[in-house]
Amino acid sequence: MRNKLAENIYYVGVNDRKTEMFENHMELPNGVSYNSYLIVDEQVALIDPVEPEFMAQYIFQIKRILGAREVDYLIVNHDEPDHSGSVGAVLREWPEVTVVGNAKTFAPLENFYGAIANKKIVAEGETLSLGNHTLQFFMAPMCHWPESMVTYEQTSKIIFTNDAFGGFGALNGGIFDDEVNLAFYEDDMRRYYANIVGKVAMMALKTIQKAQTLDIKMIAPSHGLIWRSNLQWVIDRYTAWSKQEAKEGVVIVYGSMYGNTGRMADIVARGVADAGVKEIKVYDVSKTETSFIFSDIWQYKGMILGACSHYGSIFPNMVGLLHEIGEYKPQNKVVGLFGGASWSGGGLKTLKENAEACKWNIVGEPVEVKGAPIREEDIEKLYNLGLEIGKAIK
Ligand code: FEO
Repeated sequence: MRNKLAENIYYVGVNDRKTEMFENHMELPNGVSYNSYLIVDEQVALIDPVEPEFMAQYIFQIKRILGAREVDYLIVNHDEPDHSGSVGAVLREWPEVTVVGNAKTFAPLENFYGAIANKKIVAEGETLSLGNHTLQFFMAPMCHWPESMVTYEQTSKIIFTNDAFGGFGALNGGIFDDEVNLAFYEDDMRRYYANIVGKVAMMALKTIQKAQTLDIKMIAPSHGLIWRSNLQWVIDRYTAWSKQEAKEGVVIVYGSMYGNTGRMADIVARGVADAGVKEIKVYDVSKTETSFIFSDIWQYKGMILGACSHYGSIFPNMVGLLHEIGEYKPQNKVVGLFGGASWSGGGLKTLKENAEACKWNIVGEPVEVKGAPIREEDIEKLYNLGLEIGKAIK
């Protein structure tokens, strides 16, 4: 097995193809990996543990390399339980281990797992010698939580970035970027980015910029591929996503109880296509889980939302998506709105309220259709809405 990143630095992560929903709300059709790294030197350091469910496999992998030696340091770059969940188990296995974190690491960690006896608090730029290897720590606040940091190993020039530069998708044999077809992972990487760190995109960008000041030979995140040959590929994409450099394309999302609002979406989509836009994604919000839709919203310039009404308000299944858009505030969007009404309406009204609250750039006249889109006047309005949005993003 060639799980070596460099001399005496090993990958000891695990694949999760069993969990259906990451954080219990994002589907994982291709699974996810929890990456962890072991540095064997005069002192032994373990960098970021894994989901506790995989503890037996994880400890086996470490002991297969270490034998009877102990782990001396456990580096916790990030407190979120998909990594820190097995801190307690690591401490039970090697009770003398010193847990290394920053000034913000330990309060949440101890709230999750109880008191930690041996702690080492590191500051920005501080180093920790393991013998031939030296770890250096850099804070990466809000990438993904306030305590997030990255660890740079000076000898090998590997940076361990935890969530940053990560992606969904279990590692299917290849663990390095040059061992796989990168196109296979790109959508899952963007979906991970948009839904995990998209809300703090500017902080992600700062982490990228900070990392670029170092001499880096390899980027080793805690999810997804390890980057040793195509560093610029991942840096370019993470930078573009952080700057929200949206592509020419339109996402149309609708919520529809009996299909009438869905019919409206198709008319709008035809208008967008007639404007010459080739990348158009149409989603039924009740069919596709939000993280996939939001990933496309992140990457395209155009966003058109349509919803039927429900008790004077909006179709309930649209609410989760609106919440995510409101929280994450994707920028530089051209937005169009439409809605369906039976009696009092409410779908379009709620979309407009969200548009106002989020200061969306509304283009075209929002369209509300009573019943089905069967009147020529309504069909024309919907088509023109699509056409106008299409022209606006060309
Ligand atoms: Fe992979 Fe924010 O945890």
